[in-house]
Amino acid sequence: MVDAARHPQVEVLAYSEVERVDGYIGNFRVEVNKKPRYVIEDRCNGCGECAQVCPIEVPNDFELDIAPRKAIDVPHGQAVPLIYAIDVDNCIHCYKCVTACGKLDAIDFSQEPQVLDLDVGSIVVATGFESFDPTVVPEYGYGVYPNVITAMELERLANSAGPTVGRLVRPSDGVAPKSVAMIQCVGSRDARYNEYCSGFCCMYTIKNALLLKQADPAMDVTIFYMDIRTPAKGYEEFYNRAREMGIRFIQGRPSQITEDPVTHNLYIEAEDQALGEVIELEADMVSLSAAAIPRLDSEALASTLTLSRSPGGFYMEYHPKLRPVDSPTDGVFLAGAVQGPKDIPASVAQGSAAASRAARVLLSDTWEIEPIVARVWEDRCVSAQGRRCGVCATACPYGAIIVEPGQPAQITQAKCHGCGGCVAECPHDAISQDHFTDAQIVAQLQELLRDNPEEKILAFMCHWCSYGGADNAGTSHFEYPASSRGIRVMCSARMDQDFILEAFRRGAGMVLVSGCHPQDCHYISGQQVAAKRFDRIPRTLERLGINPERFRVEWISAAEGEKYARVITEMDAKLASMDKEALRQETAKAQPEIAKRLRRWAAVPGMAEMLEEEEVSV
Ligand code: FES
Repeated sequence: MVDAARHPQVEVLAYSEVERVDGYIGNFRVEVNKKPRYVIEDRCNGCGECAQVCPIEVPNDFELDIAPRKAIDVPHGQAVPLIYAIDVDNCIHCYKCVTACGKLDAIDFSQEPQVLDLDVGSIVVATGFESFDPTVVPEYGYGVYPNVITAMELERLANSAGPTVGRLVRPSDGVAPKSVAMIQCVGSRDARYNEYCSGFCCMYTIKNALLLKQADPAMDVTIFYMDIRTPAKGYEEFYNRAREMGIRFIQGRPSQITEDPVTHNLYIEAEDQALGEVIELEADMVSLSAAAIPRLDSEALASTLTLSRSPGGFYMEYHPKLRPVDSPTDGVFLAGAVQGPKDIPASVAQGSAAASRAARVLLSDTWEIEPIVARVWEDRCVSAQGRRCGVCATACPYGAIIVEPGQPAQITQAKCHGCGGCVAECPHDAISQDHFTDAQIVAQLQELLRDNPEEKILAFMCHWCSYGGADNAGTSHFEYPASSRGIRVMCSARMDQDFILEAFRRGAGMVLVSGCHPQDCHYISGQQVAAKRFDRIPRTLERLGINPERFRVEWISAAEGEKYARVITEMDAKLASMDKEALRQETAKAQPEIAKRLRRWAAVPGMAEMLEEEEVSV
């Protein structure tokens, strides 16, 4: 931290908050609110004499409120930069700090917040994680029994720079404990709170247990665990060392902790899975290994930076295997636990990777994007005619579209990833996607359904998953009927309802729309946008007199060739069971109404010829 702060090309803006981020890769504009410290940064030398004379004590976040801090203070002894700040909400303006500061004259109560506008090429998000609050787990009595603490509190108590100068004592009576129990997976791997594993708790618990044992070899240390996870280099050996040192490991999640109200000793009830029986263990102190959770402000930062979050609330990477450090917004990179629970070596590795990914952007004069971006037909956009719309901006997961009243929608093409969601969602057909225009897709549809359409299954597939699934079916030699015909688009979000109606107008026997599984879509929320649209289609078909069983939605990954083959086989069997003459008549009856619905579409450049081309034979 010190090296980074001293680096001539690094400027640290501590005590500051990012308020707004506009722009795109290579050209971000960041608005930062720099809060007043009421201490002049280049005069403060971090001596701390001001804090010594300050008469006000307030809760200390860093020490987890075990010890207080002063109203003028630094977050902790190794803070970078080591510059004091006055907590004005608690300051009583006694000005003792001004006197103590003396000649340095660093105290300045006239400071105001500053707004900084920065031009930056890339952004690294490394805002870390928070600890789960175990007070919500009623059976463990955290917050009720004084000697039930969190592992983080135990770390502070056992730390020589901590509030007890490294002497582990019981909060109830200040006496050193003779026995400590540690409980794993508090708030994680628990369907009530968080399903995920926090990853690093096993190792830090073993580390804490070893430290306690080294400080007091007679101490009785027990770890209650569900599974000990030691996946990295040297971890298993570390675990074995702990066992050899006499630390007791009991497999079983405790069901309850009770307290002796006189001694404040604790009784832990658990099932010892190795013995297959319920046990009760008495301990002087209990430490809870609380889950790592996303920071409470992670949702607000996600919307500032257009990031997406996993079901657990951590930021999603662009691709878990191929681009694990990139966020879905080009030019924004993720480092450390902001992306998911991570231990220190993994965080350091990812931080280095994020820094080099960011440097790659800074060292480039130009940046290539995929040539499949969306464009607005300005004369068709109703916003330009003063009407309220903005559907495209809502559909865009990248914040690439801005709709100002009275102006046509504006697409920042450097931010567009080409999912095509805005094109399919625009109710006025006012947006097109390069290389995946409506006319190009309808041209494919037309050719694929030219002969015997009622015997065909038209399959729309997303490039990244279901198209890969179909390919996998072929390369793996999974047999399936030859009745399917595929159309590839980048994302299921591009699969416009009009394509499906046009396929039925042209007499397709069946239509399949398929894309990635919900969590796998390569365009943040493209799959969700598509899924909502597809949910409405069966009702539309019913109203048009088309049997909704002729339409099917399936989410197929690139590895699921077998599933693709099975879905086509099932659809083919269903199609075979349908009377073809009845199908033709169903199509003929629905055609005029579908044509009426698609009339607006004919005004899209290139579409008129497509829609008017030869009468569909029925
Ligand atoms: Fe496959 Fe979005 S990329 S559904």
